[in-house]
Amino acid sequence: MELTVDIPVRKTLHSKLSEVDFNELEFGKYVADHMLVCDYANGEWRTPQVVPYANLSLSPTTLALHYGQTVFEGMKAFTMHDGRINIFRMDKHYDRFLKSLDRMCMAPVPKDIFTEGLIKLIQLDKGWVPTASGSALYIRPFMYASEAKFGVKVSDEYRFIIFTGPVPSLFAKPIKVKVENQYIRAAKGGTGAAKCGGNYGGAFYPTQLAKQQGYDQVLWTGGKDNQFIEESGMMNAMFVINDVLVTPPLSDSILDGVTRDSLLTLANDLGYTTEERPVSISELEKAFKEKTISAAFGAGTAAVVAPIAVININGTDYTLPAYNDNSLHNKLKEQLELIRTGRTTDIHEWNCII
Ligand code: COI
Repeated sequence: MELTVDIPVRKTLHSKLSEVDFNELEFGKYVADHMLVCDYANGEWRTPQVVPYANLSLSPTTLALHYGQTVFEGMKAFTMHDGRINIFRMDKHYDRFLKSLDRMCMAPVPKDIFTEGLIKLIQLDKGWVPTASGSALYIRPFMYASEAKFGVKVSDEYRFIIFTGPVPSLFAKPIKVKVENQYIRAAKGGTGAAKCGGNYGGAFYPTQLAKQQGYDQVLWTGGKDNQFIEESGMMNAMFVINDVLVTPPLSDSILDGVTRDSLLTLANDLGYTTEERPVSISELEKAFKEKTISAAFGAGTAAVVAPIAVININGTDYTLPAYNDNSLHNKLKEQLELIRTGRTTDIHEWNCII
């Protein structure tokens, strides 16, 4: 891709790449050498810059710290089988970022700043993209209200940043989840469909309670009397019931997951039936009792597929069949990996090879 935006680069004098043990990656532990930074003020975006990764200096009155005007994305770059680097579904992540910004009343980041800034950043830090199967360079674009003023208002200034870091695949082991119908993650008309910080902070407390009871995550509910499944922890929830891949439909309380969309598309490609429709708690209970549910999993960028081993519904633990190579979610994950690493044709044009 030819770059049209002039993005000045200031390289680090102290690369930390040699300190990384790529055999012992941990999600969120390592950050690559550089970041993209671009400020918005007086109604315009300034020139984006690639600079050494460094701490920020913030006024205590920075609006984002008080009123939560902050949005992020999570995306990944992969090393392909021929050594080239692929940023997966960059355009779809950009579109979702814009939607989140819009919901949070924040200035839209121009597409060329986002995409060309990202490409320039990854070209510079290409040594940080891991090569082992399942691992990736996690990309974290984010933006916060940077105006220093504690009046309760929509910010007039923003800072957009992208940093990256090598990660293994998250939740490799099957997880135990608990259907949560007391606390909710998002309400109808709320911010659940936006990738804003508050959605994650608000989820910590119920998740902590579930962890104290021996579960890894909660299965969020919503709808009438909180009787319908919404998401699985920080991911979209997917089920295989009667051999059909079922997932709750997108709404203003469910994030439009890029992995969710990719897996639904791949399932259709592979000839499976998919349904985007409400899934009630009682349907799940019935499916367990009648043994028509063969799998449940979370789908998200970080984990890709997080197989669920146990679902607790109203105090009863229901166990799912063991995850194996023939599980539908494993096949989907493998197919996704084949596309992202260039081992099969990218028919949906999801790859951005740099
Ligand atoms: C993802 O699955 O990518 C998420 O959004 C979770 C993230 C907060 C690590």
